[in-house]
Amino acid sequence: MMDFFSYLSGDYKPLSFDTRTILVMNSKGGSGKTTLATNLASYYATKKFPVVLADFDPQGSSMAWLEARPEERPPIRGLAAWRDGLRVPKPTRVAILDVPSGLHHRQLAKVLAHAHTVVIPVLPSPIDIRAAGDFIDELLQTHEHAGLRSKLALVANRARENTHAYQHLEAFLSGLTLPFIATLREHSNYLTAADRGIGLFEMAPSAVATDLEQWQPLVRWLHSKRSLPIGS
Ligand SMILES: Nc1ncnc2c1ncn2[C@@H]1O[C@H](COP(=O)(O)OP(=O)(O)O)[C@@H](O)[C@H]1O
Ligand SMILES: [Mg+2]
Repeated sequence: MMDFFSYLSGDYKPLSFDTRTILVMNSKGGSGKTTLATNLASYYATKKFPVVLADFDPQGSSMAWLEARPEERPPIRGLAAWRDGLRVPKPTRVAILDVPSGLHHRQLAKVLAHAHTVVIPVLPSPIDIRAAGDFIDELLQTHEHAGLRSKLALVANRARENTHAYQHLEAFLSGLTLPFIATLREHSNYLTAADRGIGLFEMAPSAVATDLEQWQPLVRWLHSKRSLPIGS
């Protein structure tokens, strides 16, 4: 059996760089990694891309979401990657990786080496902001050391506009060298989607209009060259 750490340290040949690979990661639990990963997988599925959702978190939240997914919805292939490694079936156009906290140094470098793009959700709280600062520093150092080229971006999650906490987060994210791409509000639509195994892109447009609008900058960025390593 291949666990996450043997996958990271072993010689198992995982993903090819031909598959568009998007990591969702942050050092903090609860920041919205699974929420972003599942909604991104749903987005690409609705666009008819063969998509894999690889869950590296032993808690298996992304896999649980997929289990709840109704059969008639556009298919998403799930991989319990924390247990089985990353065996991506053909043809996979897009792989979304839900990556847990607690990776450092070589393991971090190894998982980043497979990524075109890294999306980092951050919550509006002092503890989350501080932790995100440390995490991003480490990420950038690892990037530099290992000569990695993946593109990183920040997303503010569970925003409540006009709150002090959100203003603080916005100031923090705007002051970093990484692009601050989108702000997603806190809303029960995310809970409904999580519960039903679907994404916002599959819900009644009238109910999610504001949320879809907030996802637009992220989706646009992911479709643009700005989110791809130079030369890929
Ligand atoms: N924008 C949001 N609005 C409302 N609830 C959210 C939002 N983002 C995440 N949540 C909820 O917060 C909890 C933690 O999010 P999750 O995506 O599981 O975080 P992580 O995977 O980083 O631990 C979940 O219950 C999720 O449904
Ligand atoms: Mg999670």
